[in-house]
Amino acid sequence: RKKVTIQTIHSRYRKKIPITMLTAYDYPTAQTADRAETDIILVGDSLAMVALGYSSTAKLTVDEMIHHCKAVSRGCDKAFKLADMTTGSYQISPEQALTNGFRIITEGSMEALKLEGGEEIAETVHRMTQAGIPIMGHIGLTPQHENALGGFRVQGKSAKKAEKILKDALALQEAGCFGIVIECVPSPVAETITSLLRIPTIGIGAGPHTSGQVLVGQDMLGIFDRFVPKFCKQYAHLGNNIIGAYREYNREVRESIFPDANQHTYPMSSEKELEEW
Ligand code: KIV
Ligand code: NA
Repeated sequence: RKKVTIQTIHSRYRKKIPITMLTAYDYPTAQTADRAETDIILVGDSLAMVALGYSSTAKLTVDEMIHHCKAVSRGCDKAFKLADMTTGSYQISPEQALTNGFRIITEGSMEALKLEGGEEIAETVHRMTQAGIPIMGHIGLTPQHENALGGFRVQGKSAKKAEKILKDALALQEAGCFGIVIECVPSPVAETITSLLRIPTIGIGAGPHTSGQVLVGQDMLGIFDRFVPKFCKQYAHLGNNIIGAYREYNREVRESIFPDANQHTYPMSSEKELEEW
């Protein structure tokens, strides 16, 4: 398959082919998602929680993000490489956003950035897209605003709140976003926003009528199950498989079953050399 570019994404959107996106946080997870022909690989700031064990995404620094972007980039051959800007790394001024944004792009070898927020970040998004950085928006439930939202909860349930999310989406489109993630809103809200935009929407917990879907890799693989959101389908339960494999190893070592004397062990060249040694 060919390298996925911004043109590929827009072409899928025009042809109404759903766009696929998955998070990856290190070399092997990027490589497997890439080989599975995922369109976009996101180094999201959920990295903080699902891979680094922080209690919230707010803890993640730009340097930590870049460290993981580098690993993902090395494992990513064809997929389009998108990274989140971390909490507090873009809200202070467009200059701050540009400085940190270019660091993630250049040091982290990423192709595009995702920012959370609506009208209030439109000016920053505009400056970044003018500077040649493809920007994806992120509206609805924005985990970086966890404290202001009072936790992880569905957004836009009332007509008035849905209207505000639509205004945010239109402002982001106007500012030059090439797409927008819509997280955790009722399906009709995501559907209406999608129908009113001329850029793709990528849904998570936003129903089936967006232009594409995204899931957090660790959630859908069942590796991170401190909590599993209602919208996440678990396609595997790798956490349990991994624990099973480790248990088996521990048991075999304790019972002297592993390593096998022939199969996993190196002989010397001859009996004679063994004696001499
Ligand atoms: O950080 C992340 O994983 C995300 C996705 C949920 C879209 O932003
Ligand atoms: Na994120």
